[in-house]
Amino acid sequence: MRIVKLSETISETKPDDFLEPFVIPTETVYGLAARCDQEESLRKIFKIKGRESDNPLIVHISSMEMLKSIVKEIPNEYQGLIASFWPGPLSLIFQAADGLSPVIQGGCMGTVAVRMPRNEHLRNIIEEIGVPLAAPSANTSGRPSPTRVEHAINDLQDKVKLYIDGGLCEEGLESTVFGFIDGIPTILRPGAISRESLEAVIKMKVQLKTNHKPGEKVLCPGQKYQHYAPLVPLYLFKGKSWRNSMNETAKRMNFKVVGLLCTDPLYTLEGQVKTVRYPMGEGLSEWAHNIFAVLRDLGGRCDAIFANSIETSDIGLAVMDRLSKAATYLID
Ligand code: TXA
Ligand code: MG
Repeated sequence: MRIVKLSETISETKPDDFLEPFVIPTETVYGLAARCDQEESLRKIFKIKGRESDNPLIVHISSMEMLKSIVKEIPNEYQGLIASFWPGPLSLIFQAADGLSPVIQGGCMGTVAVRMPRNEHLRNIIEEIGVPLAAPSANTSGRPSPTRVEHAINDLQDKVKLYIDGGLCEEGLESTVFGFIDGIPTILRPGAISRESLEAVIKMKVQLKTNHKPGEKVLCPGQKYQHYAPLVPLYLFKGKSWRNSMNETAKRMNFKVVGLLCTDPLYTLEGQVKTVRYPMGEGLSEWAHNIFAVLRDLGGRCDAIFANSIETSDIGLAVMDRLSKAATYLID
């Protein structure tokens, strides 16, 4: 395996290095990338991650010309969003151009999610390669998304030959996945761009369809699968009396060490149980920044993680979505 610095990638690599899947840093999380025109390399992404083949990939572009080469049309409704949020963490769903590989589309969806990443070095690399890059998050499927290159290396090891190291990801949460479903503006995955800021641009209410219900049409295949699981069970306490419930659960389960991920920094469990924490920082945006790192870190040094609910305004919506999906048990 080779690790190169983001800022030195263009001078340190040859075009052939990008014919196999490679790891890229983005402002959200690290991605496992393949050129859109390399069918075999695209297939390998699914193998390396252990990802279901019906789960489509987000395509990363560096210019509007690239966008035009992979989509049928650019809907008028997207103009304001593109002007406001690209480059940035917003993935928009388009009708896919006829020539776009079905591997990217999770088989036969007929649509493609596209975004223009914020980091200029990364956009230069895409420009240099000359074709868009399809990239899911660079974790083993089901594990927390990687926000440092070390997390990606931990999961994917020698299955990937080239890792591009851009340090800590700026946002720490994946992009917002957004589209018009039957004409209605819809968030399919809450993310770094909040519902409130989308509504302010399109001047319409945005609906949330962020969980798949059995029997309903699948709008976003990723919703069907287990996500973000730490190495130990995560208990998410949703009720107001979460302090009491945490104590009862720790006693009943006879846990020796509990990882505490709670909004009250002074709270600690009663009795013999030891608690460990992670420096989450203050405020919702710090939580968003650290949420995947904490799941990886605490998972390795306790019997269970206890988390309580946080506000779901702005970026809190995406943080709660990740916590709920990471949770083994939801306790009211
Ligand atoms: O920030 C991000 O979005 C990161 C970085 C690497 O760009 N990527 C990422 O990709 O999180 P991934 O594959 O881990 O999650 C993409 C989600 C999945 O739930 C997938 O089902 C959904 O987006 N998705 C992709 N294409 C779609 C499409 N055409 N229609 C509906 N959902 C789609
Ligand atoms: Mg992912």
